[in-house]
Amino acid sequence: RIAGPCGLVIFGVTGDLSRKKLMPAIYDLANRGLLPPGFALTGFARRDWANQDFEQVVYEAVKQHARTPFRQSVWDQLAEGCRFVQGTFDDDESFDRLAGTIKELDEQRGTGGNHAFYLSIPPGAFPTVCKQLARSGLSAPEPDQWRRVVIEKPFGHDLASARQLNKIVNEVFPEESVFRIDHYLGKETVQNIMALRFANQLFEPIWNANYVDHVQITMAEDIGLGGRAGYYDGIGAARDVIQNHLLQLLALTAMEEPSSFAPKDLRAEKAKVLAATAPMAPLAETTARGQYVGGWQGGQKVPGLLEEGGFAEDSITETYAAMTVEVKNRRWAGVPWYLRTGKRLGRRVTEIAVVFKRAPHLPFDSTSTEELGQNALVIRVQPDEGITMRFGSKVPGTSMQIRDVTMDFGYGHAFTESSPEAYERLLLDVLLGEPSLFPVNDEVETSWEILEPVLKFWAGQGRPEPYQAGTWGPESADEMMARTGRHWRRP
Ligand code: BG6
Repeated sequence: RIAGPCGLVIFGVTGDLSRKKLMPAIYDLANRGLLPPGFALTGFARRDWANQDFEQVVYEAVKQHARTPFRQSVWDQLAEGCRFVQGTFDDDESFDRLAGTIKELDEQRGTGGNHAFYLSIPPGAFPTVCKQLARSGLSAPEPDQWRRVVIEKPFGHDLASARQLNKIVNEVFPEESVFRIDHYLGKETVQNIMALRFANQLFEPIWNANYVDHVQITMAEDIGLGGRAGYYDGIGAARDVIQNHLLQLLALTAMEEPSSFAPKDLRAEKAKVLAATAPMAPLAETTARGQYVGGWQGGQKVPGLLEEGGFAEDSITETYAAMTVEVKNRRWAGVPWYLRTGKRLGRRVTEIAVVFKRAPHLPFDSTSTEELGQNALVIRVQPDEGITMRFGSKVPGTSMQIRDVTMDFGYGHAFTESSPEAYERLLLDVLLGEPSLFPVNDEVETSWEILEPVLKFWAGQGRPEPYQAGTWGPESADEMMARTGRHWRRP
């Protein structure tokens, strides 16, 4: 589907996200013919830029980060719709100028009064910007027009602040006009969880506590936090990744089949399963957290968090977080879901591993099955996108020996089509008014409710355990698994 007449305004346009993700995604959408010809991109920031300066910044971002080939004609058309409004969030006049620019764009570019406002700014500034949008009349569309607001995480830093934030945003924009971005939901492999489960007969009958032993959801990164102290210090891995990305992955993996993929049906199932999710007790045994210290990665010496610069000397911000949660419903009761995420780990990988129980009876002598592990279905979210199934197979030879083998599906081999970048997909959905892939206020609050007891527990625990960069996290995370007789997969 192609977006109808519209424009996008980005607040925080000088930030990394704008340059690396948003601007390139807009160009790629235009290049694929999915934006209206008169599309307008307006930047709002404090910098003293003219339209041409902004245009140049967008041009460089596109040249550097766009996924699709550069085509002069596409760029020229996009560049004609670039505008810059210099201003500050607390200044009424800046927003009046923005309103003027938007009115002009409606006349010059035919944007039809339809505009999305992307808040790529610290959450502390959301209330001011929302109020300004209301005051200047920008949040209120005429009949047959739309206005939408797009907000980036973090949606608060705990339950109370998330509630407060939702309240403020909803005072200005009705919930159906609020698009909260969790870019994991824009990933091809994440949407494929639903196809895998609900388009096939093979998996769903065993997708429950009768057959599943446990589930591991891992999002590991090899990068450190150099340059991101301003955002990350005091936030940490659980708030940054578990509260949103990992709990969304859990929701899609654990939820019941929605009665349709209409937004309200899909969101209802996600909301239900999140409401049934809670940390397993006792937290001292079911959670782990760590902070990386210097080490070696890819043959290079890398600094520890506290040497990265910008972090408080005694920062207790965790860069690794692991926790065990349970989904308390008939399908999943008793099955532990292990969630872990960390920076400066062995390698960059995100995966969901559904690990099955052992066969109830093995009619082989015990030496035959020494190399047989547990069956597993691994959804490889990234990089090497695909799905792996692990099961036991007879080793060729004259005796009965059974060993684990894997069967692989890889996107690269199976499809010639390329995946759009997550932000591309999500930005298009915003412009189309298609809300399925955006968490609603309740979901965000429920996710904070799940996390809150763990955050409170950790707050009383002093320093996180150090782990060396390039390893797979603190020892306590391995101990947490070992206590239940299990171990983390080494992806
Ligand atoms: C962001 C987090 O949401 O996701 C970052 O704030 C993290 O800390 C990033 O690096 C990872 O995204 P991706 O798409 O590279 O897995």
